[in-house]
Amino acid sequence: MGGSEGHRLFPEGFLWGAATSSHQVEGNNVNNDWWDWEQLPGKVAHGDKSGDACDHYNGYRQDFAMARDLGHNAHRLSLEWSRIEPAEGRFDRGAVEHYRDVLGTLKSFGMATMVTLHHFTNPRWLTAKGGWARPEVAGLFERYSRHVAEQLGDLVDFWVTINEPMVYATHGFLLGLWPPEKKSIVLAFRVAKNLAKAHGRAYHAIHEVLGVRGRRPMVGIAKNMMLFDPKNPASRLDRMVAQKLDRIFNRSFLDALANGVMAFPVVSRETDPRLDGTQDFIGVNYYSRSLAAFSLRKPQMLFMDLSVKEDAEKNSLGWEVYPEGLYRILMSVKGYRLPVYITENGIATTDDRQRERFIVAHLREVARAIADGVDVRGYLHWSLIDNFEWKEGFAPRFGLVGVDYKTQARNIRPSARLYSDIIRTGSLP
Ligand code: BGC
Repeated sequence: MGGSEGHRLFPEGFLWGAATSSHQVEGNNVNNDWWDWEQLPGKVAHGDKSGDACDHYNGYRQDFAMARDLGHNAHRLSLEWSRIEPAEGRFDRGAVEHYRDVLGTLKSFGMATMVTLHHFTNPRWLTAKGGWARPEVAGLFERYSRHVAEQLGDLVDFWVTINEPMVYATHGFLLGLWPPEKKSIVLAFRVAKNLAKAHGRAYHAIHEVLGVRGRRPMVGIAKNMMLFDPKNPASRLDRMVAQKLDRIFNRSFLDALANGVMAFPVVSRETDPRLDGTQDFIGVNYYSRSLAAFSLRKPQMLFMDLSVKEDAEKNSLGWEVYPEGLYRILMSVKGYRLPVYITENGIATTDDRQRERFIVAHLREVARAIADGVDVRGYLHWSLIDNFEWKEGFAPRFGLVGVDYKTQARNIRPSARLYSDIIRTGSLP
């Protein structure tokens, strides 16, 4: 495979870059629910607190210059809602100006911008009102999104309203792992519905504000897609569970945005015609595969049990490294007939050679999906720099570029150079 063979692996204009999120890199997001939660003992591994994180709030220009020098032509980042709207209905001019500089810097470097409006963190005032469990959140999210579209819209090429809605709903409201630590299946799917409705309203707000003079904003979500295979392929029940998980976790949200029907387990089915067709592209976040099995011991999980293939290669968090899953996921979203952007894909590892192999193997699968007709138009690696990995703290190393958290020094890893060569040549080693 290679450019020299006369055919392109990746189409003209392909977006190449990396992704980050505000709370994970900026530092001092003191006004959100994660900040509060991190202060409590035992919540984050090793007692880590996001603190200054990567000090990217101040150092974004240098970080972006590094990305540009590595050949990235695009970057995905998230805006911190709690900075932009620190109190309900009060928008902060300074925060907006800051993000104008951030996005303007990327533009001045000739890079396309992909902006996420919600990446797991919430303003403290929203949490105090009941956050995503309350139906009012959709209107509040719409107002924030409209404000951002008005103030920053000229600098944004792609919009991701919500990052990984099903991960947010399950981690915060079903598994009790993240704030607000609820463990209720009903609540989790109610939250999923609220996220879908909020997305729909933001989608239309952004289109109303920016869809003028023949312009058409590109709005979507970043959907975490987990590959589910039956633990025992010979078991009909395991196969059924794998299918069901795929439907619930991977498809239900995307389907709601495609046809307006919110069909989640245990909560009432609802149709909202305004939700119909509210994606201009599909954003895929892909990391790993899980094995699914039927288990009588998991009634609270609808009898579904998840595990990781034992003899598989893993990352430092114990997730299976399974490149073929990316191909299978990409093929599975072909039917939506929308352009696809890989909005996240990456590996936590302290062995940079493993990251090199990961990148090449996954991009090979992307190229294969493109050859098989999936309209993939970009790949944004997670992440540009090491960062605060939520409940796991600072230990996992996801960066193309390493961060020394004591000095804030950056260290460009060999994998970043390899990725840069791939971008430059458009071919895979
Ligand atoms: C999230 C990121 C996270 C990454 C690695 C995705 O679920 O969007 O915030 O750091 O995966 O776990």
